[in-house]
Formats: sequence, structure tokens, C-alpha cells
Amino acid sequence: MIKRPLATAALILAATAAFAHQGVQNPAVKARTHSMMGLDKDLKLMISMAKGDIPMDATAAQSAARRIQAGTPDIAPLFEAPETDPKSEALPSIWDEYDTFTALARDLDQAAAKAAPTIQDRPSLAQAITNIGGACRACHKRYRE
Ligand code: HEC
Repeated sequence: MIKRPLATAALILAATAAFAHQGVQNPAVKARTHSMMGLDKDLKLMISMAKGDIPMDATAAQSAARRIQAGTPDIAPLFEAPETDPKSEALPSIWDEYDTFTALARDLDQAAAKAAPTIQDRPSLAQAITNIGGACRACHKRYRE
């Protein structure tokens, strides 16, 4: 039962291993990739705990999920202007479908809000990662190269 969510967690980790932000010149693009890196740091902390790389600490994992939720309202305003950069991975369709983009940001907000209080042990943490990571992926699949 634990195996599948943990496998998913490992996949999410692998999928977010490469960062494009190095070499970005446009400060607006830097600001949004910086914000993404903040979300990523907390999700990775949760994944490390779920995998047993660091000790399980339900309070710390819940805090990480709450920080992800707290960072989510920044996404829409940071991406509002159609700023670009040669190193950006943002797809131009964001600005044709900005309502859908912001709806996906709200989905992450809700997923993190719902998941945070459920985290008690490694299996419930793995489930929270699957739910939160799924909301990250839903947006990346559509709007990130
Ligand atoms: C509503 C859409 C959306 C959501 C939700 C979202 N992202 Fe992103 N993310 C993007 C876009 C678009 C980019 C590409 C930005 C660019 O390169 O200009 C990106 C880029 C990134 C990057 C690469 C940053 C860099 O330095 O290049 C990471 C890491 C990342 N996201 C992690 C996450 C994590 C973790 C979550 C969930 C907790 C998440 N994202 C949720 C849209 C989203």
C-alpha cells in the first residue's frame, strides 16, 4: 500500500531535478522562478521524509505543506505580465489562457490546504505529496516546456 505513493514521490523528485533558472536575465522571470524554487524546496523536504532520507516529523511536514499553500497566491500575480527570457520554460499559452492558469494555481492552494492537516505518518505524507505534486504537475504539463 505504501509502495505506490512513494514511487510517485520519487518520480516527482526526478521530474523537478533540473532547473532552468540559472542564467535568467529578466528580473520578472527570475522572481517567478525564485518563487517556484521555494515551493520546490518544501515539496522536496516532504519527499525526503516520505522516503526515509530524513526522520519523519509530522509537524515539520505539515508546516512545509502550509508554506506551499502560503506561497501559492503569489503564482498568479508573478505570471500576470507576459514576461519572457531565453532561459524561461514558461509557455506563451499562459497569457492566452490566463484564467485556466490561475485556476490551476487555485487547485494547488486547495490541494495543499486539504493535505496539510492529514499528515501524520509516512503513508499519509506520501498521499499528501501525491495530491500536492499532482497539482504542480497539472500546471507544468500544460504551461511549462
Ligand atoms: C499554475 C501553474 C503552476 C503551478 C501550480 C506550479 N508551477 Fe512550477 N512552474 C510553472 C511555470 C509556468 C514554470 C516555468 C517558469 C519559467 O521558466 O518562466 C514553472 C517552473 C517551476 C520550476 C523551475 C524553476 C526554475 O528555476 O527554472 C520548479 C522547480 C517548479 N516550477 C516547481 C513547482 C512545484 C514544486 C509546484 C507545486 C508545489 C509548482 N511548481 C506549481 C507553473 C506552475
